[in-house]
Amino acid sequence: MYLRALKTAVEAAQKAGSFLIEKVSTEVTIETKALNDFVTNVDKESESLIISLLQEDFPEFGILAEEQGAKPHFDKTPYWVIDPLDGTTNFIHRFPIFAVSIGLCVGKQPVLGAVYDPNRKELFTAIQGEGAFLNGQRINVSTAHLLQHSLIGTGFPFRNIAIIDQYQKCFAEILKRTHGIRRAGVASLDLCYLACGRLDGFWEHGLQPWDAAAGTIIIQEAGGKVTDFLNRDEFLFGRTMTASNGIIHEELQKIVSSTMPLQYPY
Ligand code: 2AM
Ligand code: CA
Repeated sequence: MYLRALKTAVEAAQKAGSFLIEKVSTEVTIETKALNDFVTNVDKESESLIISLLQEDFPEFGILAEEQGAKPHFDKTPYWVIDPLDGTTNFIHRFPIFAVSIGLCVGKQPVLGAVYDPNRKELFTAIQGEGAFLNGQRINVSTAHLLQHSLIGTGFPFRNIAIIDQYQKCFAEILKRTHGIRRAGVASLDLCYLACGRLDGFWEHGLQPWDAAAGTIIIQEAGGKVTDFLNRDEFLFGRTMTASNGIIHEELQKIVSSTMPLQYPY
């Protein structure tokens, strides 16, 4: 049912990805949205490019985009959830990890997702009920059975610095009990890395819907589990997320929920 929409999303993500690569070594205009939260002219231009491509094929769908989009109405109309440049801080520093993330949601559930990493030319996709793919090859979450054997992704609290103490407790516990922790600064890609087994778990406080929409359906379709810190399915708008291969979810969630603030903002 959503095959045509995925095709459009992929085309938009790839075009925007090529645009980002073209722009990465040029001079960009940087504005500060909030503490440590930046936007460049490239974010904005990428977003306009994506929106015009999506609207050309699906004028009836809503739009929730990081830099300009309107809030969705929770009726049955599907709406695109767009991050035109995930990893702006990396992009500004020419640290070569950033992505374009496009999800399509109905109500609070993503129904398809496309995440494109233009540095590695990796395209992650999923449609609800039809599996998850990396460059057209089926992907699955890992089979790690214990936290002890897991590699865990996270995002640091760069904006909500009031939670740093709690975050540090959580970080220390997870560091002690796993193979290690990774932080790329690109949430959509972290979620895709979990979907294809490069990570076994992930947690973050303060995520936005555009960071989460595409990556979460890709995880679900790869056989993984996504919840908020309270184990509910409020991961899209709830601003907290625990995600895993499903097997280690309880073990990871136990540490997260006993150390982190359970709701947003705290
Ligand atoms: P962005 O680049 O699209 O803003 C979740 O960690 C998200 O927070 C990241 O994917 C990133 O999305 C955003 N973010 C904003 N400022 C950040 C910073 N200073 N460091 C890391 N992530 C940041
Ligand atoms: Ca962004």
